[in-house]
Amino acid sequence: MLRTPSKNWDLVGEIVTLKEKALYRRMPEVSGIPGRIINIDGRSVLNFSSNNYLGLAGHPQILEAFSKAVHTYGAGSTASRLIAGNTHSHRQLEEFIANWKKTEAALVFGSGYQANLGILTTLTNKEDLVISDELNHASIIDGCRLSRAKISVYRHLDLNSASDALKQPGFRRKLLITESVFSMDGDHAPLKELLNLCREYDAFMVVDEAHATGIYGPSGQGLCSALGAIPDVQMGTLGKAAGVSGAYVAGSRSLIDLLVNKARSFIFTTAHSPAVSEAALEALKIIVSPEGDQRRSMLKSNVKRMDEMLQRVLPRREIPCHIRPIHVGPSDRTMKMSEACLDQGLFVQGIRFPSVREGASRLRLTVMSDHTTEDLRKASRIIETLFTARVNC
Ligand SMILES: Cc1ncc(COP(=O)(O)O)c(C=O)c1O
Repeated sequence: MLRTPSKNWDLVGEIVTLKEKALYRRMPEVSGIPGRIINIDGRSVLNFSSNNYLGLAGHPQILEAFSKAVHTYGAGSTASRLIAGNTHSHRQLEEFIANWKKTEAALVFGSGYQANLGILTTLTNKEDLVISDELNHASIIDGCRLSRAKISVYRHLDLNSASDALKQPGFRRKLLITESVFSMDGDHAPLKELLNLCREYDAFMVVDEAHATGIYGPSGQGLCSALGAIPDVQMGTLGKAAGVSGAYVAGSRSLIDLLVNKARSFIFTTAHSPAVSEAALEALKIIVSPEGDQRRSMLKSNVKRMDEMLQRVLPRREIPCHIRPIHVGPSDRTMKMSEACLDQGLFVQGIRFPSVREGASRLRLTVMSDHTTEDLRKASRIIETLFTARVNC
């Protein structure tokens, strides 16, 4: 007779605990093309919760490139890049990225998560030290863990703490990794100073530009280029400002060769479809064009206006950013506030543990280039009302 699973397998109990802590997640359903307006769970609302910062996800040229490529190359790549999934479209995209980033070479991954896993596990192992900002993204944390290197976490943006970590002797390699624009806080890493420290201690520097690609620097190359601090490894995503999906790593030819040969998250996975490459290439062509400059400048002025409009309830930011955390604290209250926003026609997602620390839940408000002045006004009015009235949350 089959025995029933023991109570160690009480999955229902685990879900109940998540619900009790207001940490239970569900996936809202989006329909139509998400832009400044999003249809979410059947409600058409203002979208202040998207990484589609430049509004490219619905751009007609990108959609056209995508659908043309599907008819030319088929729906999927059918295999990993090293077996039979590598196409002219993948190569063209990588050549474009290397040219744009002014690096010897570039490699495209299926996602940013895979790229960070690939970078960290290829470059480091148990003989090495990885120095990581305490607020780095989960994909970096997981990459650190998988690498089996010793992980030294430094205080967020803190150069003294990073320097102390870098000083540790006795390792084959040292590698420092940071986001350039932090995904949940919208603050910027001191890239130049960190790069100087890395050079002092013979460490490789890896920068995750997921939320800076397309937005900062000449032709949207990212914050590293904007600050003139070019690290050994530049990583960025193609699913946020570029509006498509996937990620890139840009650097030396030997770095890319090594990733092709050793990054398991690149080797052991089906290549993304050539149509995705073609669409991403089209998105990057827009990003580097005068239209890209125009979208960046619209975004910049929207960010500034939003910061001004919110100042009655939130302190002005030293460096305004398209990512604006609105700190609430407890998870249940955060989710109630997010729900109250939705009821008034504003989508601004609540962010909880483990995306941020326990007790540091927040609304993550993101500004797009496509938002109108009226959109910004409406969003700030709703947030102001919520914060001043505390709407029974
Ligand atoms: C800083 C950072 N790195 C990496 C990723 C992962 O990128 P992707 O969504 O393409 O897997 C994200 C996305 O959430 C991110 O915010």
